[in-house]
Amino acid sequence: MSRGGTRGHTRVRTARGRTAQSTRWLERQLNDPYVKRAKAEGYRSRAAYKLLELDEKFGFLKGSKRVVDLGIAPGGWAQVVRRKLPKAAVVGIDLLPVDPIDGVEILMMDFLDDAAPERLIAALGGAPDLILSDMAANTVGHPQTDALRTMGLVEVAFDFVQQVLAPGGAFVAKVFAGGADSQLVAEMKRAFTTVKHAKPPASRKGSVEWYVVAQGFKGRPDAPGA
Ligand SMILES: C[S@@+](CC[C@H](N)C(=O)[O-])C[C@H]1O[C@@H](n2cnc3c(N)ncnc32)[C@H](O)[C@@H]1O
Repeated sequence: MSRGGTRGHTRVRTARGRTAQSTRWLERQLNDPYVKRAKAEGYRSRAAYKLLELDEKFGFLKGSKRVVDLGIAPGGWAQVVRRKLPKAAVVGIDLLPVDPIDGVEILMMDFLDDAAPERLIAALGGAPDLILSDMAANTVGHPQTDALRTMGLVEVAFDFVQQVLAPGGAFVAKVFAGGADSQLVAEMKRAFTTVKHAKPPASRKGSVEWYVVAQGFKGRPDAPGA
């Protein structure tokens, strides 16, 4: 690897055994201002800035007391939540192991497991008022399949939201390719006062990732009076 790029830009020479794709990834990582900032500010992932930027725009963190973080690994979003809401109860779930985060309960399990919702609520000790999902399915390299699998996760997350979110609460989720599909958006609009899509500046321009931010939950659809 050569660090002799011009004007602070680090060039990566293709090494034997390294594919052109992984060389591009490494070069991008080394030159990414968010990666540098995350390192300097003690965040485990550059993804932390996506949540910070979304919160700056929509202000859903303020006042939250119980927070669920779906797809928590490696923990950047949970760190943001802890720093902004030091008194909130926070629980996260991921298929992958996550190094402990002070004040955050971490479940290493599949969110699609039938037992997951109950475990999450038991760990929180009550109904969440903020549910975050940065879950992404492992990509298989076929864009339509990848988008469908991630949207499948969003749909399951939205079912969970409808069952457990406290009235007035918010739901923030990663979606693909311009947003949630129209049927899901219509259902979300019925369930929340506002539903907006956003691509925070920290989300790479070339990626198809967007976020949906739903605020003002109207309560369980089957709840009395709903
Ligand atoms: C983009 S990462 C999350 C990054 C995180 N927000 C952060 O700031 O560090 C997406 C995560 O979703 C997790 N994930 C995908 N499918 C899942 C599932 N069915 N159950 C639990 N976690 C899942 C992946 O293992 C991965 O760690």
